[in-house]
Amino acid sequence: MNIGFDNKVVIVTGAAHGFGRAIAQNFADRGAVVHACDINADGLEETVALCGPRAKSHILDVGQRAQVQAAVAQIGDVDILVNNAGGVRGQVGRPIEEISESDWQGIFDVNLSGAFFMSQAVAPAMKRKQAGRIVNISSGAGLGISLTGIQAYASAKAGQIGLTRQLAHELGPWNITVNNVAPGFVRSNPSTEKQWDAMGEEGQARLLQNIALKRLGTADDIAAMVMFFASDQANWITGQVISVDGGK
Ligand SMILES: NC(=O)c1ccc[n+]([C@@H]2O[C@H](COP(=O)([O-])OP(=O)(O)OC[C@H]3O[C@@H](n4cnc5c(N)ncnc54)[C@H](O)[C@@H]3O)[C@@H](O)[C@H]2O)c1
Repeated sequence: MNIGFDNKVVIVTGAAHGFGRAIAQNFADRGAVVHACDINADGLEETVALCGPRAKSHILDVGQRAQVQAAVAQIGDVDILVNNAGGVRGQVGRPIEEISESDWQGIFDVNLSGAFFMSQAVAPAMKRKQAGRIVNISSGAGLGISLTGIQAYASAKAGQIGLTRQLAHELGPWNITVNNVAPGFVRSNPSTEKQWDAMGEEGQARLLQNIALKRLGTADDIAAMVMFFASDQANWITGQVISVDGGK
């Protein structure tokens, strides 16, 4: 199956690193004009260099609605939005009594509110064009429980899956699809590296044993599913969540 995105305008959030960078590169390799958004300016520059001369970077906190509105106004009409920015913001699992309001809220801001604000900003132009694709990156944590033990992360990702289903119905009449990729554990960022180390040899072997395909995933494994949801091949698919986790 050849998937192409010639001259499609694509926003990828959280594009400075990890999955977001791989998703941005996969779109750029297929002809898209990529707008890479993140709070990490140095990482963004590296991503844009990898994506080629047509790619642009935008320093943007997706949890800040005014920043999101301003960036999308500058970008103009968008064909494809990938809400990938997220993660645990350096937090680790702790007992419920120890979680502050800002710990809880910070994780919701990026993983859930960010996806809402970004979708809200691109929807009017997609409606006008009667076409659009929104792909949200959740997590196995949003479908089951989180390996991190972080309550807000599991809750925000579950909420983002709910948002996916709701927006699929709201935006479907305008031929806008909204789908969700739920990745399994991938060693793609400092938090998952720490988790991997903390598992020790036995824990690592157990994790691999519980994966049907007996290997960890890569950022390109996640990007491949995003390419499919964003493509014309997925014209009649919306409101869906696909686990990309090697099989449970
Ligand atoms: N790696 C995994 O095992 C795994 C598993 C399931 C889901 N996920 C999800 O996949 C996505 C990407 O994860 P990753 O492993 O590539 O992590 P990563 O840390 O490498 O990338 C996340 C990017 O998001 C950016 N970001 C954070 N807060 C932001 C904000 N407020 N506004 C804009 N950008 C912001 C970070 O700067 C970073 O570049 C996240 O949503 C994460 O929750 C990851």
